[in-house]
Amino acid sequence: EQFIIYSDKYEASRVVADEMCNVIEEIGLAGGLPVLGLATGATPEIIYKYLIEAYQKGKSFAKTICFNLDEYYPIQKENPNSFYYSMYKQLFNYIDIPDNNIHIPHIGTLDTPLHDFCKDYENKINQVGGIDLQILGIGENGHIAFNEPGSDFNSLTRLVDLDEVTRKNAAADFGGVSAVPNQGITMGIQSILQAKKIILLAFGENKGRIMNRLLYEPITPDLPASFLKLHSNCQFVLDEACAKNIK
Ligand code: F6R
Repeated sequence: EQFIIYSDKYEASRVVADEMCNVIEEIGLAGGLPVLGLATGATPEIIYKYLIEAYQKGKSFAKTICFNLDEYYPIQKENPNSFYYSMYKQLFNYIDIPDNNIHIPHIGTLDTPLHDFCKDYENKINQVGGIDLQILGIGENGHIAFNEPGSDFNSLTRLVDLDEVTRKNAAADFGGVSAVPNQGITMGIQSILQAKKIILLAFGENKGRIMNRLLYEPITPDLPASFLKLHSNCQFVLDEACAKNIK
């Protein structure tokens, strides 16, 4: 795997946003439909700002297909803490991607049974030929998407229990840990590893400890991000604040 360090998160986000635009361009020119895997949380926020800028300068996302990694369960779409809400607020409201091309593992009460919904999510990814470029953040406990420690290498999209660390880290947004949903729907480790290219981003001092573990520890379900070392085209993109804690 490849560790790449940029001076700050803005420079790193610029490079990754450009890479996403390149994927869209190249696959578009080849007559295909580019498929991006997207994350929520603080880490990709700047990337989405740069994608909106690209759109304002003439880039079109009209033929781009997106799959988001995860969503709380249960949660209302209208809840500002839902990943559904934040994706529209941070990106989709400001670019020309059609609603039909947006996929978020948000399940409402009127939708199909959960198991069918998860299977259908996997099918939808496969039907469009898989994800061309997957963007990931990393939890302080080593989770990717909501694949918490203990997640199976073969896991696909499913309902999971959230780790206490994950719920505590979300507590401030929800106004207390008791308001954070106990569960989430997440793409699995396998769903992620099937992407053709993966970029995991880790910004800030707080992510130094887990990135240090990721660099030195063997591949184990206790550190779900370690499974990414098995992927042949995966980059770990860090800012200096994060990298300075790596020994
Ligand atoms: C969100 C997701 C999570 C986050 C991770 C880091 O879609 O998949 O795994 O990437 O929890 O969150 P931030 O970026 O807020 O530090």
